[in-house]
Amino acid sequence: MNKLMKALTLSFVAVMFLFVLAACNSDSSGSGGAVSVGIVLPTKDEPRWVQDEERFKAALEDSEYTTEILFSQGSSAKEKENVETLISKGIDVLVIAPHDGAAAGAAVEAAKAEGITVIAYDRLITDTDAVDYYVTFDSVAVGAAQGQYLIDNVEGTGVPLYLYAGASSDNNAFLFFEGAWSVLQPKIADGTFVIANSSEAEGLKDKAELSRDEMSAILGQVTTNWDPNESKNKAETHLTAVGDDLKGDVAILAPNDGTARAIADVFGAESAISSYVITGQDAEKASIQYILDEKQTMTVFKDVRTLVNDAMGMAIDILEGNTPETTGSYNNGAVDVKAKQTDVIVVEKDNVQTELIDSGYYEASEFTGLE
Ligand code: BGC
Repeated sequence: MNKLMKALTLSFVAVMFLFVLAACNSDSSGSGGAVSVGIVLPTKDEPRWVQDEERFKAALEDSEYTTEILFSQGSSAKEKENVETLISKGIDVLVIAPHDGAAAGAAVEAAKAEGITVIAYDRLITDTDAVDYYVTFDSVAVGAAQGQYLIDNVEGTGVPLYLYAGASSDNNAFLFFEGAWSVLQPKIADGTFVIANSSEAEGLKDKAELSRDEMSAILGQVTTNWDPNESKNKAETHLTAVGDDLKGDVAILAPNDGTARAIADVFGAESAISSYVITGQDAEKASIQYILDEKQTMTVFKDVRTLVNDAMGMAIDILEGNTPETTGSYNNGAVDVKAKQTDVIVVEKDNVQTELIDSGYYEASEFTGLE
């Protein structure tokens, strides 16, 4: 190749490089143009996932990478469509919190077939080898913190215990329940608690560790499907079914804040309930207000800012050809998925100020009754 040809080739390569760079740097709203990172979240109907959207947007403000966030509105079909849309926009990395962990397999397999790196976000995608990484909170610790809180905040023995769980289609529901059961079971076996609303759990009360099938049987009776309406209906049915011996001062394992508020409203309205301790999760604003008003007792704060940073840090590592750092792995039924895990914090009335306001997560002006 003569000198002139070499120079021409080099400048052509340089121009192409600049062109590609410009495409990568185009606006981050995701409208039109190529998108580097696609983000798919399960539903806008639950404040938890709107929190994630807001925190992603804040983290991406100054990013040089283009991203687009789509919601699946509680539908696996819509979720697959979202993934296909993002594939057609040329994403290199997919960050996805599935609506249904098993059903999402088909969507991520389609992404994987295009060479896209898949990061499961908060909820694991199960029974497929098409998941590369998992960023998550320590979900077993969430359940253990809820169970321990109940133990630490009841008095005496024979305390009626109402169990509620998340949706069986969400792997996290099993992790939360597993964590809660690990600490509650010895206290059920020794008579501190009496299970009020699950014959399946009652039948398994002497088993320290439950199989997935055993947990499924319990969840079959006490699932909320993550739905406040279903939670309310179940709580009403349970209170109607029991006698006064299972009322009075009670403990309630509620899996998250949306379900906790619905269940708390039912128990709060029942005259034969003299007091209740109820758990939650997500530190949703409405539940922080419930905690300040003493209608919900605790929540497990999962700092979404950390999860978002972990997911984006991982995505950028992948885009830049580096191997993301992980801290362990989760078996999803098909493979061990490399995972990065974040700790959680128990929040009750006394530490709302330090954990949520002083840390800049929420503004004091968003609540009433803060001391
Ligand atoms: C999440 C929780 C959330 C629940 C319902 C779980 O997978 O980890 O934070 O409350 O889904 O959306």
